[in-house]
Amino acid sequence: MPYSKIIGTGSYLPERVVTNQELQARIETSDDWIVSRTGIEARHVAAETEMTSDLAFQAAQRAMQAANVSADDIDLIIVATTTPDMIFPSTACLLQARLGVKRGAAFDVQAVCTGFIYALATADKFIASGAHKCALVVGAEVFSRLLDWTDRRTCVLFGDGAGAVIVKASEAPGIYSSHLHADGSLSHILRVSGNVHRGQVRGSPFVEMDGPAVFKLAVRVLDECSREALEHNGFTGKDLDWFVPHQANLRIINATADKMGVPRERVVTTVARHGNTSAASVPLALDKAVRDARIQPGHLVLLEGVGGGMTWGSILLRW
Ligand code: UT7
Repeated sequence: MPYSKIIGTGSYLPERVVTNQELQARIETSDDWIVSRTGIEARHVAAETEMTSDLAFQAAQRAMQAANVSADDIDLIIVATTTPDMIFPSTACLLQARLGVKRGAAFDVQAVCTGFIYALATADKFIASGAHKCALVVGAEVFSRLLDWTDRRTCVLFGDGAGAVIVKASEAPGIYSSHLHADGSLSHILRVSGNVHRGQVRGSPFVEMDGPAVFKLAVRVLDECSREALEHNGFTGKDLDWFVPHQANLRIINATADKMGVPRERVVTTVARHGNTSAASVPLALDKAVRDARIQPGHLVLLEGVGGGMTWGSILLRW
């Protein structure tokens, strides 16, 4: 079978919600500034004991239930995360054990906020090649652990969460195409430079970002890669039923949708309630629009991401 198709979605958000009001009581910021510059009103933050694999496990179980598949059916697990439970083994291997999956491959993908797009593109190629039959693809993050909660330029932007999809081989699309990009020469504009070195963290353990530089790049590359995806498949923005972009900033999302000619009511946005959940943002938004029945069989859907690396990419699919 030449194509792969998403047959179920799931997501999970930690219980604790941190509002802008709570942040403005703690640091020098305001609800007004955060909402007007980003569209973010609140974000979820994992409990101290919750790890990325815990969030991934919940989202994965919900996706498996929606797709009506069991652990025995899955032969590929890819987890996109910037916040793995440990340096190794991979979060995908920890998740595999927790789910009771006994065969196939399990590995993590690191493309920061584009991670889910990279992971889904990888699963698509593995399945379309015939090498694997049923993939679990997860984007999961406890990004709050990488934040300096006294740095107002970054700590108001991010949140924790997980989203998952089950992907199977299909005679009909399914995923039409994926387009992935990277420019490592821009690694300095968004990074966590720290590493573990002989028992010490060397470099910074916190997110450092040149916000305006990332903003400008995001608006440019998201426009380029949406055009690339649509033109490659002979579509225009008007053909899209749903645009599901990375949820970093409402101004970036709206600028991209406007350039594509996609009306705002066709754009799935969760950034107001989730903030930027990095690799989890696209599958979280996708699951929301599937569960509230906005996305229907036959709909044309464009997924898009941009993040540290810098990396960016798109996936165009028929639901
Ligand atoms: O997921 C990966 C991709 N990440 C992104 O896409 C993020 C892209 N960047 C952005 O979304 C925006 O650049 C930000 C939301 C991060 C910042 O918005 P901006 O409009 O680019 O603001 P700025 O960084 O140019 O800062 C403007 C002012 C500064 O004050 P001065 O120097 O003009 O006096 C900042 O110090 O706003 C100040 N500021 C804040 N004020 C209140 C920065 N953060 C805050 C804050 N509260 N939280």
